[in-house]
Amino acid sequence: MKDPHIIIAIDGYSSTGKGTFAVEIARRLGILYLDSGALYRTVTLYGLRSGRIEWNGRIDERQLQEDILLGKIDISVMPKEDGSMRVFLGDDDVSAQIRELEVARNVSAIAALPFVRNFVDEQLHRLGAKGCVMDGRDIGTAVFPNADLKIFMTADARIRAQRRVRQMEEAGQHPDFETILKNVQERDYIDSHRAMNPLRQADDALVLDNSHMTVEEQMVWLDGILKERFNLSIL
Ligand code: DC
Repeated sequence: MKDPHIIIAIDGYSSTGKGTFAVEIARRLGILYLDSGALYRTVTLYGLRSGRIEWNGRIDERQLQEDILLGKIDISVMPKEDGSMRVFLGDDDVSAQIRELEVARNVSAIAALPFVRNFVDEQLHRLGAKGCVMDGRDIGTAVFPNADLKIFMTADARIRAQRRVRQMEEAGQHPDFETILKNVQERDYIDSHRAMNPLRQADDALVLDNSHMTVEEQMVWLDGILKERFNLSIL
C-alpha cells in the first residue's frame, strides 16, 4: 500500500478543501503532507518576530533577503499521526502561531516577494523530494511541474462561501453570506491575477469539482485514478 516516492500536487481555489483532501491522502498512503501555505506563514512569522515586518506592515526586504541568504530562517516539518504536519522555526513548534491574525494579515505581501517564493520552493523541494502530497496555488505549475499526479480543485463559489460561513458559525461568529461570497470571489481574482506564479490549472492536471462531493466520495474518485496509474489503493 505504501509508496513513499510518489509526488502528488494539489492546487486550486481557496476554500475548496485542498488541505482536508491532501491530509486524508497522506494518512491513507503513508506519505508526507506538505502545506506550502504554512511555509509562507512561517516566513511571515519570522518577519514579525525579527522586526523585518514592521508594526505598520512595511517590509524591510533587504534585511529579510539577507537573513534568508545567511540561513537564519530554519524551517522543518514533522508529520502527525492524522496525516497533517507540524512546522518548526528553529526548535520552536509554530504550528499554532502561524494561524494567528497578525500572520494572516501579512502573509499575502510576503508570498508576493520573488526571493521568498524562491526560498519556499527550495524548502518544498528539500522536504518533499522523497515523496509527498503537497497543496498550494502553484505546485503543479511551478514547484513540481514533473509531479506524478496533479489535481486541480474547484467548487462553485456559492458552495465555498456556504462552507466558510458554516466554519465561522461553528467558531461562534455570525458572518453575512453575501460578504463572505464577495470575499471568496475577490480571493479567486487575486490568486489568479498576481504577477508571479498565479493560480492556473496545469495542462496535465485532473480537475476535481467537489461542489457536491463528500470527502469519502473524493477518496473513491482518487482511488480509481491511483489504481489505474500506480496500482495503489486508498480505500
Ligand atoms: O493556504 P494558506 O491560506 O495557508 O496560504 C497562505 C498564503 O500563502 C496565501 O496568501 C496564499 C499564499 N500561497 C501562495 O502564494 N502559494 C502557495 N503555493 C501557497 C500559499
